[in-house]
Amino acid sequence: MQLSSLFPTLLLVACAKAIPTDDNIAKTPADGQSDAGPVNVPALESLADAKMEASSSCSGWNDWYGTGRWTYTEVQFCFYQRSDSTVAVVNQREAQYYWGAAWYYARNYPFSWNIEGTIVTQSDFEGSGDGSGPTQYYVFTEKVPAGTYSVSVNYHQVGPYWEADAAINESAQFSIVLGS
Ligand SMILES: *[C@@H]1O[C@H](CO)[C@@H](O)[C@H](O)[C@H]1NC(C)=O
Repeated sequence: MQLSSLFPTLLLVACAKAIPTDDNIAKTPADGQSDAGPVNVPALESLADAKMEASSSCSGWNDWYGTGRWTYTEVQFCFYQRSDSTVAVVNQREAQYYWGAAWYYARNYPFSWNIEGTIVTQSDFEGSGDGSGPTQYYVFTEKVPAGTYSVSVNYHQVGPYWEADAAINESAQFSIVLGS
């Protein structure tokens, strides 16, 4: 929905509660993942591998709001070594939208994201997808050699519910350690 079409109503809401506190952000119940949107798992194998990798091949979790705080999500960026390649996986959770003074999980409202970044001194990467969960969005066909690297990433998400004028457009810098 366009923000502009609801603007008079939402202006009142926004004035009443301009900055949501953490209390307003619904937290995913333990069994609530199933209705939080489609889960894109490229291969069961990659999940199993992910649990065995050192956590240092992932960024921390980024808690990000979109423009005007109409949307919210939590995102983590991971890189895993395969036998002949390196893969980039995004973990996405807690996607929510703000409406009528409360936060709601994405549920039936889709959201999509685009990621662009660089493993400094090595290779650029880019990919897009939608929904929650772990998603493999890029394959470095030339495997990144073992080492410690700086990574910079831009994450752009449209939705849930609101359109591009409430998009999340954030960047993160972190370092990763890749094995051989
Ligand atoms: C996201 O933010 C960056 C840096 O501010 C900007 O250059 C870029 O155009 C933005 N992307 C979109 C799709 O708005």
